[in-house]
Amino acid sequence: MPAWLKDAVFYEIYPQSFYDTNKDGIGDIEGIIRKLDYIKGLGCNALWINPCFDSPFKDAGYDVRDYKKVAPRYGTNDDLVRLFKTAHEKGIKVLLDLVPGHTSEEHEWFKKSCEEERNEYSDRYIWSDFCFAPAGIGNPYIGGESKRNGTYLLNFFKCQPALNYGWLKPQFPWQCTIDAPAAIATREAMKDVMRFWMDQGCDGFRVDMAASLVKNDDEKKTGTSKIWKNVREMFDKDYPECVLVSEWSNPELSLAAGFHCDFMLNEGGPQKPMYSTLVRDYQNHADHIVLSDGCFNGKVPVSQRPYYEDHSYFRMDSDSNIMDFITPFTERYEKTKDLGYISPLTCNHDTVRPAFGLSEQELKLYYALLFTLPGVPFLYYGDEVGMHYQSLHTKEGGYFRTGSRTPMQWTEGKNLGFSDADADALYLPVDPDGAEQTVQAQEGKKDSLLEAVRGMLAARHQYDGFKADAPFKVLHAAPKDPLLIYSRGDRIVAINPSSKTVEAKLDSTESRKAIWSVGQGTLENGVVTLAPQTAVFF
Ligand code: NOJ
Repeated sequence: MPAWLKDAVFYEIYPQSFYDTNKDGIGDIEGIIRKLDYIKGLGCNALWINPCFDSPFKDAGYDVRDYKKVAPRYGTNDDLVRLFKTAHEKGIKVLLDLVPGHTSEEHEWFKKSCEEERNEYSDRYIWSDFCFAPAGIGNPYIGGESKRNGTYLLNFFKCQPALNYGWLKPQFPWQCTIDAPAAIATREAMKDVMRFWMDQGCDGFRVDMAASLVKNDDEKKTGTSKIWKNVREMFDKDYPECVLVSEWSNPELSLAAGFHCDFMLNEGGPQKPMYSTLVRDYQNHADHIVLSDGCFNGKVPVSQRPYYEDHSYFRMDSDSNIMDFITPFTERYEKTKDLGYISPLTCNHDTVRPAFGLSEQELKLYYALLFTLPGVPFLYYGDEVGMHYQSLHTKEGGYFRTGSRTPMQWTEGKNLGFSDADADALYLPVDPDGAEQTVQAQEGKKDSLLEAVRGMLAARHQYDGFKADAPFKVLHAAPKDPLLIYSRGDRIVAINPSSKTVEAKLDSTESRKAIWSVGQGTLENGVVTLAPQTAVFF
């Protein structure tokens, strides 16, 4: 386990929208390089960059056409290597996004596999042997698009054919086992891609749809896990300082399979969704809310918010039950703490931004929890200033997700400092009402969200109790009680999202000073007292 993860806080960058330095309206790698000091100053010391490789961008780059080439719109391979170098000089690690489950239909491997004549890539994807035979039962497939007499399996959108890592239990002659030469060739090709970038300074990968590799896998993902264990062996042997973060959301399986960290999202795993009990997952409502009434872009006054029923914990007086989070989280944590880390995230490029449902004060409390939970947290660009979810039509396969992918808000004035291009040339429009959610507007302002984030991350780095693997213990949590108190090593965190002053007695008589807070709270003679909407680190 690379030691740097203990103190790592990641910053996720959607490169399209971060910072444009060549006035073409789209972010670039040079833009990331120029903002490294800002990221460091925020308290983040690692990056996850969404796919920045050559692609037709039908799924924002998750449809890779060439794994070894930076998309020209972001710059060159040399620029990316310069980013690794400059980031390292500043003590920042860089993770790229690896999409191992599928390529673009424009990838050379796929084009070759479509050919009638058998060749080296014929089995790189999963093809049936007849144009009317489904490539797999229950899996989406496409026919009629190639000279090759067969149909091929998809992994996500139509533009993303599934790579062939084999089947746990093949049912048809064209389905191979995970130990077959074709499946091994795919795995080795993906390892070659990883080596290509790690040899040039990349510090590892966030792995897209990590659980999706082996088809018809069992519940325990036996086949897929075998592949990742093999990959992890390569990491341990040749790249011991590099890390693998999975988009899997089942740490019991993913960490056992060799991942160092696994994202905490809602899908996957036997437990009922736990994450959306903290902050409501608006995913299934975003299209409806945005496109039908067009009025809600995250700035609805608090008084009008009940229109959107939201019983998440961080919504003030939402009548939530924190046990819906604490019980499954603690269980998962106990089961996996010796294997690797759970990674909480403020949100990501696939979800609705938290500012959609939470006020600025609520966001501060939400982040105070995320950044002090055990594990390795991720901050999505712009969440540190409370960027809003926008009401937008789809771009590059984003659909409802597009609203969370708008340009970073740096300054007041032209394009909120994102780009010097004409406004209508921008990748996506900037928030027309975003002037207050900019770095410039919040920098140095005592009560701003940005400064709160800086403060809590500074505390995280300062005290060993907040490191990724410091022990986590719940000290106070009860159904229908807003007050949550837990310890991390020798530190104590107390959070009260409600509008009332709350109090709880701990199993001790100690008194402590606050080391960081939003709002007012005390710990005296074993009694924690918190004012409304407060979070305190003791
Ligand atoms: C998950 C990624 O985060 C998402 O953006 C993408 O569309 C799918 N996987 C397919 O690669």
